[in-house]
Amino acid sequence: MRFVQGSHTPNLASTVAAVALAQLISAVDASTKLEDQTSQNESGSCKQTKVAILGAGITGIITARTLTDANVDDFIIVEYKDEIGGRVHHEDFGRDKDGEPLLVEYGANWIQGLGGNGNPENPIWTLEKKWKIKNTPSDFEAILTYNESGEVDFTSEIEAFEDAVEILTADAEELRVDNIQDRTFRQGLSLAGWNPGRRKYPQAADAVEWWLYDGEQAYTPDESSMVFNAAVSNFTFEQFSAENNFVVDQRGHNTWIKGEASEFLKKDDPRLMLSTIVDKIAYSDKGVKVTNKDGSCIEADYAVVTFSLGVLQQDVVSFEPLLPEWKNVAIEAFLMGTYTKMFFQFNETWWPKDKEFFLYADPIQRGWYPIWQSLDKEGFFPDSHAIFVTVTGRESRRVERMADAEVQEEALEVLRAMFPDVDVPVPTGFQYPRWGTTPWAYGSFSCWPAGTTLEQHQNLRANVDRLWFAGEHTSASFFGYMQGAYLEGVDVGNRLAGLVNGECLKAVAEKHGEGGCDEMTRYEVLHGTTEEDEYNIENGWNNLELETERIKGNAK
Ligand SMILES: Cc1cc2nc3c(=O)[nH]c(=O)nc-3n(C[C@H](O)[C@H](O)[C@H](O)COP(=O)(O)OP(=O)(O)OC[C@H]3O[C@@H](n4cnc5c(N)ncnc54)[C@H](O)[C@@H]3O)c2cc1C
Ligand SMILES: *[C@@H]1O[C@H](CO)[C@@H](O)[C@H](O)[C@H]1NC(C)=O
Ligand SMILES: *[C@@H]1O[C@H](CO)[C@@H](O)[C@H](O)[C@H]1NC(C)=O
Ligand SMILES: *[C@@H]1O[C@H](CO)[C@@H](O)[C@H](O)[C@H]1NC(C)=O
Ligand SMILES: *[C@@H]1O[C@H](CO)[C@@H](O)[C@H](O)[C@H]1NC(C)=O
Repeated sequence: MRFVQGSHTPNLASTVAAVALAQLISAVDASTKLEDQTSQNESGSCKQTKVAILGAGITGIITARTLTDANVDDFIIVEYKDEIGGRVHHEDFGRDKDGEPLLVEYGANWIQGLGGNGNPENPIWTLEKKWKIKNTPSDFEAILTYNESGEVDFTSEIEAFEDAVEILTADAEELRVDNIQDRTFRQGLSLAGWNPGRRKYPQAADAVEWWLYDGEQAYTPDESSMVFNAAVSNFTFEQFSAENNFVVDQRGHNTWIKGEASEFLKKDDPRLMLSTIVDKIAYSDKGVKVTNKDGSCIEADYAVVTFSLGVLQQDVVSFEPLLPEWKNVAIEAFLMGTYTKMFFQFNETWWPKDKEFFLYADPIQRGWYPIWQSLDKEGFFPDSHAIFVTVTGRESRRVERMADAEVQEEALEVLRAMFPDVDVPVPTGFQYPRWGTTPWAYGSFSCWPAGTTLEQHQNLRANVDRLWFAGEHTSASFFGYMQGAYLEGVDVGNRLAGLVNGECLKAVAEKHGEGGCDEMTRYEVLHGTTEEDEYNIENGWNNLELETERIKGNAK
């Protein structure tokens, strides 16, 4: 089954409610609004609000909650999907043991780094507990390893890789503290003594590396920053804790996000516009006008775009004026990964029932149907006969372009190789998301490439006039994780509350000083390390004069 999109038929109830809201909010400060009111009124006037929050994922909802806490109730949330939650997204799949549809998480599934016990607690863990989200610890030790001829034990590679990552993490911290040039994660691994090609069983080393690196960041070590990907991992798994809990709640993982929203949005609250696609955003230093695909519009003093980095990179929302160069460069500078879980259901559970993970080392292709995770286990979905396999990066792109039946056949071939003694039956259910082409996400989560800087990342976060940006991808310390989306929602909510209220919130000022208030820092020019006169023969830059002459000559 293909990835099913939420319907985007305009919702009559919300339109009627919107009119009511427009009448309600009479005291709008006209002077702060954009100019073209006349032409606007001809096509029906825009809703007026102080803050337009674009997107109702974690960041959007937490921005709204933060504004509410600061007594700013005048906001409107616009969301593409027909429900709250964004990339914390589920679908029905096959049948559970009682014949009801089994709900599986297509997006965020693990609460990563719970914290507590002397460490700070992950704010996501706090909320999952508050809303009693059913979850179970993932046991990364409950693993068996396989290759093309069946089970073969290469678990010792796991330890070898983990040892190298520990060295790399300390090296990365040194680079960061001493302001030494960044490297790729691959270079860091090699320098720490890990090189799959030089190990006794390279394919097994590849499989382990994929599982523990690509399977977390959705990019290869070759593509990622050593400094920032080591840091993001350390922030989550050392600062909080190494625990990963897997959500199995049949109400859906997004229940906690909906729960938070229910504390400030009443039923059918006109401030939440679902099934509404933002098409165009006009901004200035006076305000923002948001125009939706259905023709409706919103005029706000401020707006915050919480769309994913993938959406921003796809150019599907137009900005007027065009975003400045420094912002566009930052948007292109970061990576949007794709992480694909493919779900299988069988008529019986024919794989070991006491294990959670089954890692496959393909003899040829790194990342080929590498990690299988059983859902038919105590604490998960016993008797569901369900299992899923995860691929990332180029394999995700490949399977997204293939027909389900072709992918199913390839995957079954892998299972038959892994379990030569089993007559692997044809699955009764098979489905997977195509995140790379999902129009409200265009990918799964972001990653930090090698060779760029914290300042470049700050440009991804920074506001442009009254237009703000926030989301998982704008978190420097927790990008890719729910906690990143959460903390950025808190930060932007506090800043906007300060601007709307005309002064920095006291609690924020006490905690963060000037740094937590007001507009964001940005860097219009980001220099490299080499001055032009250093491009000389001493540095091996040989043909400079000749080249210059030639270019001058051509220019004339
Ligand atoms: C496959 C996958 C697995 C993941 N696994 C984990 C995990 O195990 N643990 C973890 O911590 N994190 C995980 N994540 C990451 C986590 O889901 C994200 O970090 C987080 O949900 C991002 O929240 P956000 O608010 O920044 O963005 P989003 O959730 O993307 O919210 C943005 C909202 O904007 C809306 N939108 C987009 N375009 C428009 C438009 N034109 N008009 C109106 N609305 C629009 C979207 O519909 C969306 O609701 C995973 C993500 C994916 C996809
Ligand atoms: C257009 O609408 C705005 C408020 O929505 C109002 O202040 C303004 O006077 C209207 N302009 C015209 C020309 O009707
Ligand atoms: C990792 O995080 C811990 C806890 O926050 C910190 O004490 C430690 O210095 C960090 N290590 C590195 C190498 O960054
Ligand atoms: C896979 O494992 C089998 C059994 O241990 C071994 O004979 C074979 O060489 C392995 N495959 C590769 C590519 O090393
Ligand atoms: C599942 O299907 C296979 C082949 O399709 C069959 O041999 C097996 O008996 C079935 N198992 C059950 C429990 O029905």
